[in-house]
Amino acid sequence: MEPALTDRCASVLAEAYESKKLVGRSGTSIDVFPTGMTRASGDALTDLIANEKAANFLEVGLGLGLSTVFLSLGILRHREKFDALTLDPFQERDWDSVGLETIGRAGLTERVKFEKQYSEYVLPRLAEAGAIFDFIFVDGGHLFDNAFVDTFYATRLARPGSLIVLDDRWMSAVQRVAAFFTSNIGLVDESAAKGTPGHRFICLRVPQDLPTRKWDHYVAF
Ligand SMILES: C[S@@+](CC[C@H](N)C(=O)[O-])C[C@H]1O[C@@H](n2cnc3c(N)ncnc32)[C@H](O)[C@@H]1O
Repeated sequence: MEPALTDRCASVLAEAYESKKLVGRSGTSIDVFPTGMTRASGDALTDLIANEKAANFLEVGLGLGLSTVFLSLGILRHREKFDALTLDPFQERDWDSVGLETIGRAGLTERVKFEKQYSEYVLPRLAEAGAIFDFIFVDGGHLFDNAFVDTFYATRLARPGSLIVLDDRWMSAVQRVAAFFTSNIGLVDESAAKGTPGHRFICLRVPQDLPTRKWDHYVAF
């Protein structure tokens, strides 16, 4: 589908992983690692969203823009038009707007909207407005509380039956967040097998109906 756009995305990724550098808006050279994921994990992310046949996605944490391009490539496998929203309050301050540059060079500016705002402010607003996403990628603040709040709102913004994907399984905080949502909220862990590039992510399947819980429900996790 839309080879021109797919080619642009592919060449941005090829160049980034070849040079291991990206260039920010004012010309700063920014290392792909350690902030960016490996090429193999990015390709696994593309496969994940492609398998979901998603028509849109929400991303918390634009950063370098690499995951945004991997996710977009997955959607472009089966549709030309899609909408996405990515959030990052520090895109300008900490990253010299390199993620926005990446999106621009990949030709995704029309499809991927960006908000320079904290996810903890944007997600409740979206939930209140009734927004629903087919695929949610959580890769913003990595403190337990940030990842918890993002995942909490993700359960309210995710289409029933869809996937919420948390980056950085290696972090205890991320594992603990996932453990709460599988043990208390009924999300199902559908992560890739250990030893595969996709195992970097914790993939949580949202049930068709979130469970009704008693006021004092709590399962130790
Ligand atoms: C690991 S980086 C994301 C990397 C990106 N997914 C990529 O592939 O290039 C985490 C990003 O989350 C952003 N971030 C931190 N706190 C945030 C918050 N409260 N809301 C949204 N984004 C946040 C940071 O500025 C940073 O760009």
